[in-house]
Amino acid sequence: MYFSKIVSSGSCVPDMVVSNNDLAEIVDTNDEWISSRSGIKRRHFSEGENTSDIASAVAEKIIKRAGIDPLDIELLIVATVSADYTTPSTACLVQARIGASNAVAFDIGAACSGFIFGMSIADKYIKSGVYKNAIVIGAEVLSKYLNFKDRTTCVLFGDGAAGVLIERTEDNTGILAEDIGSDGTKAMALTGGFSPAANSFNTTNAAAERSLYMDGRAVFDFATRQAPKSVKRLVEKAGCSLEELDFVLPHQANSRIVEVISRKLKIPMDKFYMNMDEYGNTSSASIPIALNEMFEKGLIKTGSVGVLTGFGAGFTWGSMLIRF
Ligand code: COA
Repeated sequence: MYFSKIVSSGSCVPDMVVSNNDLAEIVDTNDEWISSRSGIKRRHFSEGENTSDIASAVAEKIIKRAGIDPLDIELLIVATVSADYTTPSTACLVQARIGASNAVAFDIGAACSGFIFGMSIADKYIKSGVYKNAIVIGAEVLSKYLNFKDRTTCVLFGDGAAGVLIERTEDNTGILAEDIGSDGTKAMALTGGFSPAANSFNTTNAAAERSLYMDGRAVFDFATRQAPKSVKRLVEKAGCSLEELDFVLPHQANSRIVEVISRKLKIPMDKFYMNMDEYGNTSSASIPIALNEMFEKGLIKTGSVGVLTGFGAGFTWGSMLIRF
């Protein structure tokens, strides 16, 4: 039986740092409101780099760290909701940049659960014996979708990318269980990049709407209901207990959401890794950015058991139990 094990990681965020005070200069907000409501203090915004640029930088770091030949990469998945183009996929742009000519490359979109969905797909290819390895990247330049006149959304999001290389192993380690799902009935609670179906033979009154829209309360309620349930289902599927987890790495949307998840699961806050103070919510990039940071800080030891859990637009959710 095959398992998928993480063997390398990398991340890349734009150099430009925008503090809460910087935002307060262009929109009616303040550091106290943003910090207390979300735990966010800064975020990185693109100075011109697009999603494929930061995703390519991530892929280069992952490859360098792993010491592998790009030609040996068999699968390349980019999870994103802010691709450079509708087509070609970001993954194809990355493939060309890094010279991974033998890889199958495609994007997937599951918003803030995107990295978990991407890992889930890669895991199936590896478990079934189709591919021996895969790079999975979450990459977003969300700033291009933010309306900097809407204080209820523009203060919460940031840009960034990160990812991992996973390889086939026969040891009982790596991705051991997953719980993923969606609820399209709540799709309109968090939207962005709407393009109406207009053409030369059809006029429509619907206006294109690029900017991100969010019903914050609805998203908060969904996340705090679904994420704890998903993690409980996950540990049950894995045949272990919540007490056995060394850490939980939640999607970095909002520290108040994480506090509720911690309370509902009765897992102490010090087991939850958080870095949204530095990056804000980077959607599909948030979990791998935090995971890469944990690796770099030496917080993940061989044998550690951790849960990654994401939730977001769609609605979508996804949790994964990994033995490192
Ligand atoms: N700065 C200052 N005041 C702000 C503000 C900002 N950036 N954004 C909203 N406000 C104001 C509102 O206008 C409102 O003022 P009013 O009472 O005079 O009308 C007040 O703050 C309270 O707004 P409300 O929306 O009730 O705040 P909240 O406590 O529900 O918090 C969120 C708002 C967005 C932080 C919260 O709903 C949330 O965390 N939602 C989940 C968001 C998320 O994580 N999304 C991504 C998941 S993938």
